[in-house]
Amino acid sequence: MSQAKENAASAALEFVKDGMTIGLGSGSTAEIFIEMLGEKVAGGLKLQGVPTSQATAACARENGVPLIEADRVSRIHLTVDGADEVDPAFNLIKGGGACLLREKIIAHASDKMVVIVGGNKMVENLGAFPLPVEVDPFGMAITAEQIYAALKRSGCENAQTTLRQNKASDGPLITDGGHYILDCKCGLIPSPADTAHLLSQIPGVMEHGLFIDIASAIVVGEDDHAKVMELTRE
Ligand code: 5RP
Repeated sequence: MSQAKENAASAALEFVKDGMTIGLGSGSTAEIFIEMLGEKVAGGLKLQGVPTSQATAACARENGVPLIEADRVSRIHLTVDGADEVDPAFNLIKGGGACLLREKIIAHASDKMVVIVGGNKMVENLGAFPLPVEVDPFGMAITAEQIYAALKRSGCENAQTTLRQNKASDGPLITDGGHYILDCKCGLIPSPADTAHLLSQIPGVMEHGLFIDIASAIVVGEDDHAKVMELTRE
């Protein structure tokens, strides 16, 4: 277990209060947080988790974190999730684990999104990490061309797009929602909000991995401490 991830996950427990409904993110850092949450539940803390992927649901069950289906919640107080890149305005690239659609549905519906990352995920500008875009398999070549045009139009340095393969490398990765992932090597995304807006206009795009104006706290883990940064969102 990376110490930086562990420190970030541990510091994020400060945001958890008794009785909360909590969006449970996906990925290795989120799983460390879920393990820690399980210890709190064993100690008597009451909460329910809304999982953002099948893998997260399995991790929560293993660690004794009670779950509730997304369709049965009336309010999500907090979501805690990892990220692939974070810029100084708290914009994110997510989707390295192919869960971005469900992650965004839950984070967007939450009162607060807290992002837990190691310091290596903090960047001046987004785009070195290939931007994951979740697409419907139908008409994927058309969608890929439209994505290329949107990236170019919004000023991305490059726009090379690759269909993500499954773990066995014998076909495309299928997301929990039954879609494909196109990983877009942008190099630099000079205007994340413009890129996000243009990608959202494309019918075949189910969702993209740019999380703009959603996160309100970033917990950055280092080897010996964690730093919490917060901003107020109306
Ligand atoms: C999954 C995600 C993850 O949060 C992101 O890939 C970070 O993962 P990790 O904590 O393993 O570095 O967006 O879709």
